[in-house]
Amino acid sequence: MNILFMGPPGAGKGTQAERIVDEFRVPHISTGDAFRLAMSQGTPLGVQAKSFVDQGLLVPDEITNGIVRERLEKSDCDNGFLLDGFPRTIAQAEALDDMLASMGKRIDHVINLKVDRDLLLGRLTGRRICKSCGSTYHVLFNPPKVEGVCDKCSGELYQRSDDTEEKVGTRLDEYNNKTAPLLEYYGNKDLLREVDGQQDIDEVTAGISSLLRGQA
Ligand code: AP5
Ligand code: MG
Ligand code: ZN
Repeated sequence: MNILFMGPPGAGKGTQAERIVDEFRVPHISTGDAFRLAMSQGTPLGVQAKSFVDQGLLVPDEITNGIVRERLEKSDCDNGFLLDGFPRTIAQAEALDDMLASMGKRIDHVINLKVDRDLLLGRLTGRRICKSCGSTYHVLFNPPKVEGVCDKCSGELYQRSDDTEEKVGTRLDEYNNKTAPLLEYYGNKDLLREVDGQQDIDEVTAGISSLLRGQA
């Protein structure tokens, strides 16, 4: 099953992806995670991406498309994948259609997590992430058992450099200007399904899972 998760910054894409990949046994491909890993390792890709990511701006399409193409060609994507945070522009969506067509594949489901804009800032500024395994927490909505420590691997939790109020404003503007038009793009292809992302984390997972299983 080939799945795309869409939704504004803080909608819960990463949180839900962690759970859905466990259930459906497909790899989780997050372009944001790929950029953060490259930045932490100081690779040439990381150096290129850093100036954009740190400002809350989208990384140029040519750079982003290249990473996704390389990732989708790996054999663990043979039985499906979950793309989180890609595509984010019409040009990326068209490039993805071309990549998949050349591999004889297509997108099966596009899930849009709907969350009101006024909830997103609180979700992002309270987010904490594990340095070791990447698990996502929230200081109020999904706290770890011990403050600052990952439940799964005891790793140290940190705050993303783009999760400040100022950067979140820029990220939301980028989303509205460049990414929101994709809802119409996938709506026109009759692939788009919406899930209320304002429910409890478990309820959102159940909603996505039943859509993917064709039970909703
Ligand atoms: P990326 O890492 O993709 O960030 P994003 O899209 O801004 O989305 P987030 O990861 O912030 O939010 P999320 O929806 O995953 O929410 P989460 O589950 O963590 O991209 C970062 C940057 O990389 C971009 O700004 C850009 O520079 C670059 N980039 C990436 N992809 C690109 C592309 N395709 N093209 C160009 N540039 C690209 O949840 C958020 C918080 O809310 C957490 O604390 C969580 O615990 C909490 N939460 C989740 N669900 C709930 C719930 N139901 N109730 C209460 N709290 C909840
Ligand atoms: Mg994310
Ligand atoms: Zn961890």
